[in-house]
Amino acid sequence: MAEARSIALVCATEASLWAELRSRAEKVSAAEPVLAPALKRFVLDRASLGEAVVERLADRLAPSGEALPLLRRALADAVASDPETLAQMRADIRATLERDPATEHALAPFLWYKGFHAISIHRLAHALWRAGRRDLGFHLQSLSSERLAVDIHPAARFGVGILLDHATGFVAGETTIVADNVSFLHEVTLGGTGKERGDRHPKIRSGVLIGAGAKILGNITVGEGAKVGAGSVVLRNVEPHTSVAGVPATVVGRASVDAPALDMDHSL
Ligand SMILES: CC(C)(COP(=O)(O)OP(=O)(O)OC[C@H]1O[C@@H](n2cnc3c(N)ncnc32)[C@H](O)[C@@H]1OP(=O)(O)O)[C@@H](O)C(=O)NCCC(=O)NCCS
Repeated sequence: MAEARSIALVCATEASLWAELRSRAEKVSAAEPVLAPALKRFVLDRASLGEAVVERLADRLAPSGEALPLLRRALADAVASDPETLAQMRADIRATLERDPATEHALAPFLWYKGFHAISIHRLAHALWRAGRRDLGFHLQSLSSERLAVDIHPAARFGVGILLDHATGFVAGETTIVADNVSFLHEVTLGGTGKERGDRHPKIRSGVLIGAGAKILGNITVGEGAKVGAGSVVLRNVEPHTSVAGVPATVVGRASVDAPALDMDHSL
């Protein structure tokens, strides 16, 4: 894992992250010629972090064809409509560097990690949704579902510092609210029970760690710093700093750290 102080410095500002991505892209490009065209297209030929994000995500969603220029324009509109999205992505890259021991530098999530791409696409879909461009938001959700197997309603609200690890099969419904600094493994559902209308999806508080395949159903709250075991079906509120597991989930312990999401402490 990258050293903690340097992670903070790299992710401190948009300029510092952009300088790091460019310098790393130059090194990787020289060392691995097979990657040089991608590095040129996604980083070295781009004028700013915003432009690079647009190019990388457009490629993820529509690799070729005449849809690409239109999609590029839609993503650029989304970044322009809410420049905060870039700061949120910076916090998500920082979260990946801090929590994923396999990640050595910021270029890796930016270029290759599906979870980072999926949450970034959702952030842009949400910006479009908030700007009243709901059909475009749904279009991005649909492309994300088709290409990345990550299906997040554009109205769902996510804080910053979100880690979607592996990401495949992640689903979140319309009235979902996720606070800052939450980590999810793959195949997590934040869904309705099918029995409620209106505000019907989970609320996940900060510092929570949710294991692979967990299904959290209904307008329930998973309290700050709680842990949800892999494969659980959670149907009731979870108290802060509590570990739950099973189908249906029951309390199996207390979290041993304040924010399990931050150190990815999976022990129950
Ligand atoms: C099964 C379901 C329809 C609830 O049916 P219901 O008959 O109304 O059941 P209730 O909510 O009254 O719960 C009855 C019991 O079944 C249990 N139960 C409910 N859903 C369960 C599930 N999915 N798995 C295991 N147990 C479940 C409840 O804990 C409760 O147990 P208890 O009586 O010991 O407290 C609902 O919980 C469910 O799973 N819906 C699917 C939703 C879904 O797939 N959402 C994803 C959307 S993206």
